[in-house]
Amino acid sequence: MAVPDPAAVPLPAGLPDPAMLARLAGEFFAALPGSAGGVPVPVNPHPGGVALPPGVSGPATPAAVPLGALPPGANLLPTSPQAPANGLAATPALLPQAQAGNGLPDSVVTAVPALDSRGGGHALGVPQAVGTGLSSPALAAPVTDVVQAPQSTAPGVASFYFIDVPGAASFGVPVAAAPGAQTPASGSLAAAPAQPAALPADDRIHALSFALPGADALRALQFGNGRAAPPMGAPGAPGNFYFLSTPDASSNTVPVARQGAHPPFDVHAIRRDFPILAERVNGRPLVWFDNAATTQKPQSVIDRLAYFYEHENSNIHRAAHELAARATDAYEDARETVRRFLGASSTEEIIFVRGTTEAINLVAKSWGARNIGPGDEIIVSHLEHHANIVPWQQLAAEKGAKLRVIPVDDSGQVLLEEYQRLLNDRTKLVSVTQVSNALGTVVPVKQIVDLAHRAGARALVDGAQSVSHMRVDMQQLDADLFVFSGHKIFGPTGIGVLYGKRDVLQDMPPWQGGGNMIADVTFEHTVYQDPPARFEAGTGNIADAVGLGAALEFVERIGQENIARYEHGLLDYATHHMRPIPGVRLIGTARDKASVLSFVLEGHTTEEVGKALNAEGIAVRTGHHCAQPILRRFGLETTVRPSLAFYNTCEEIDRMVAVVRQLSGKRR
Ligand code: ALA
Repeated sequence: MAVPDPAAVPLPAGLPDPAMLARLAGEFFAALPGSAGGVPVPVNPHPGGVALPPGVSGPATPAAVPLGALPPGANLLPTSPQAPANGLAATPALLPQAQAGNGLPDSVVTAVPALDSRGGGHALGVPQAVGTGLSSPALAAPVTDVVQAPQSTAPGVASFYFIDVPGAASFGVPVAAAPGAQTPASGSLAAAPAQPAALPADDRIHALSFALPGADALRALQFGNGRAAPPMGAPGAPGNFYFLSTPDASSNTVPVARQGAHPPFDVHAIRRDFPILAERVNGRPLVWFDNAATTQKPQSVIDRLAYFYEHENSNIHRAAHELAARATDAYEDARETVRRFLGASSTEEIIFVRGTTEAINLVAKSWGARNIGPGDEIIVSHLEHHANIVPWQQLAAEKGAKLRVIPVDDSGQVLLEEYQRLLNDRTKLVSVTQVSNALGTVVPVKQIVDLAHRAGARALVDGAQSVSHMRVDMQQLDADLFVFSGHKIFGPTGIGVLYGKRDVLQDMPPWQGGGNMIADVTFEHTVYQDPPARFEAGTGNIADAVGLGAALEFVERIGQENIARYEHGLLDYATHHMRPIPGVRLIGTARDKASVLSFVLEGHTTEEVGKALNAEGIAVRTGHHCAQPILRRFGLETTVRPSLAFYNTCEEIDRMVAVVRQLSGKRR
């Protein structure tokens, strides 16, 4: 498309000369009562009230808003003439528009455009949307009917994004409508609000990387709902927002988990942070009891992802430009958050991967290739998810090694004495889950790790099902390797973590080759980066790593101990009410359990139970849960598996119990 020479573009018909408007504004303010010489006219290439055509700049042009037409405070809204073409988000002003310090009423100050340092579309060679964000009927370019997108428009672009503006045609491009502006059939954008109420005041957040204003606002966003965020540098301190501090809080109707020294836990406040929990399914409020499969996402995580794509998106580590710096900082900040969350010694011990499965495969392919040989033994438990069985099986087959299995008792707890008997000097690795995804058993991983070390073996702990339910601390646990998935801890899918002790990772060869993981490449030889980059070949899942950081901060904010305590109460409640239902058999009854309440109901297939629950809006997983060996240990191929999180309630459990009771009464 030919770009017109800006200098050759005349002002659209009807637009007053900016210099003249500036002079008039100066005279106007000088004439106001109490004005000592008037308001200095800012030098503003893009005045708030009017959009200039490409290439046109000049002194400030006050928008000709009728005085008193806007409510007080309206001048605090960004006055950008730009509007995003998608109509979804406002372009942030680079400078916050502060309260007028000149004593003038807001409505008067509104007439003076805010300083807006954006070069915007003009500077970038992207034509401005004329007529967008107009606050001045007088200055608004006349707009005619909505028209079809020109033939030259990319296929699939909906025509309602384009308006036919006289003058715009001379730029040769379609023109974006003001966000939220309803263009009447023969109307004018002059009627559109200057700043649609739905748009956030978008000077709220700025680059973290350059310490621009707004870092605190970003933290506020991460902590959701405009609540005050903890100061930078003090993460992990649980906040008060979810805890009832009023003296009569205990008499509140919110479910309260084990009180005492701890503040009551306001589950309804937490639920409000998860928009999806307001969904209805089959006409009933959604009950999300499939948390072991994946968890729902708080608004702060959703917002953080959107923020990344709106303000930071770039590849990382590879460029000198601003967005590369922002994206790199955001990604590396997330790595630091993971480090803190796990209590790791260094961010060099934190590798971003797709999830738990990829993390275990990475270890099998890399560490396993170097450290497992013929006759060596790898120990797993009977509780393992397929992701912690199959990679070791493959490795053992490849190397002539052996897979050995720690048995469980009838409650679904590992038998530590049997484990001790399995350990010997051929044991090279012990890889166990911390919480069983199928039964909910909390495995004594600390003891397992210590015993593995005593036998001279390395220990990997699968934290996929534990991290969202309890505090994990690498210094205390002392595992050599620890893995988890972001989506099971309120973060995005497609991102997960491999933690490895520095010496273990240092000694591991790369498992994938490509960009990002190299220090130097010739056709003869490649020098690899140190961990973590050595294991992050190619462009990673940058945005979702950032989203994971927000999710972990959310969890830290509530406090892992508070979560564990509340969920323990929920699980006790559910067990207490499910166990006596005739025909119900609970699968997994270990003393130490988290989240999961697997069961079967005599006379009904697990699928029938799942469907009956779904009909009432209750989501549970039915099937083998990718853990066939442990279900077969109990003589089963499938179970019904409600799995809880801290946003679930006793009322939700009551609804599930009612359905199962009803089915129980209809047993065949
Ligand atoms: N591992 C996930 C589950 O247990 C998918 O459902």
